[in-house]
Amino acid sequence: MSSDQASDNRSTRELESGIERDFSKNLSYGEYLDLERVLSAQHPRAVPPRHDELLFIIQHQTSELWLKLMLHELRSARELIRADETKPALKRLARVKHIQVTLTEQWSVLATLTPSEYAEFRSFLATGSGFQSWQYRSVEFILGNKNPDMLSVFKHNPTVQQELADLLHERSLYDEFLAYLAREGFAVPAEVLERDWQQPYTSQEGVVDVFRTIYNDTHRYWAAYEMAEALVDVEDNFQFWRFRHLKTVERIIGSKRGTGGSSGVPFLRKALELTFFPELYAVRSRIQDVEAPGYHHH
Ligand code: HEM
Repeated sequence: MSSDQASDNRSTRELESGIERDFSKNLSYGEYLDLERVLSAQHPRAVPPRHDELLFIIQHQTSELWLKLMLHELRSARELIRADETKPALKRLARVKHIQVTLTEQWSVLATLTPSEYAEFRSFLATGSGFQSWQYRSVEFILGNKNPDMLSVFKHNPTVQQELADLLHERSLYDEFLAYLAREGFAVPAEVLERDWQQPYTSQEGVVDVFRTIYNDTHRYWAAYEMAEALVDVEDNFQFWRFRHLKTVERIIGSKRGTGGSSGVPFLRKALELTFFPELYAVRSRIQDVEAPGYHHH
């Protein structure tokens, strides 16, 4: 075939003879991915059916799939830090960060849902709310935002409640990082290394001091410094997700209460005050600015 003929025929691509067509014995795409189940798991509830409910369902389901992967990567990162394998752990966190970016970007799809469109099917969700996402809560727990009170929301599902209870009682990624720093010889306070893991983490001046040491000589403490900054990236990204959720919710339901029973936007706004790694933020105001010659600080 001359290149002229090839360019004449741009509307069809001939299937090559090697392309597999017999899946009676061989594994197919759909089978491998169990697509029949995945693609038949959307069950709109509105009567009469509303065009926009499918968007709403798929936005949540895709978020849950990414959360599943994120949790998988975070669990692995935590194990790797426990084994002092910080480089492979960073690889895991790099993937987590990209998942977070995708999740945050995804809000723009849902933002095409107008208040009037949502109002057409909202009452059919009844008391269902993302607040009851156990994977989201698992991610919060593994990052270190522990809250024993959250377990009560999952009474209706003992399997999920148990999984979450396990994570609540285990060390968070941050707890493992601080233990790693102690093994590396940093003066991490004892009360951080042995504590009741299910309790919310409280900021310790001694840990700020450890980070000050690291940030004041990054060359010497590169591995610790790199991991610390990766954690800040993850927290930053987490907050961007929360912020986009809040702003999307605000444009869709304004100041209505949530289907999960909270005050809605004001409740979501309070989450923007939360931090997973308090000392990593505290240290930032303790870093000495390098003096410019001739400049005198007042
Ligand atoms: C029209 C779209 C949405 C609206 C109006 C909305 C609204 C809300 C509201 C008002 C809350 C507070 C709890 C409550 O009272 O219900 C909440 C919590 C939550 N939503 Fe959404 N949401 C939407 C979409 C989503 C999507 C697509 C996800 C993805 C999984 C999601 C995940 C969450 C999570 C994880 C929480 C708990 C946040 C926290 O504890 O700080 N939401 N949502």
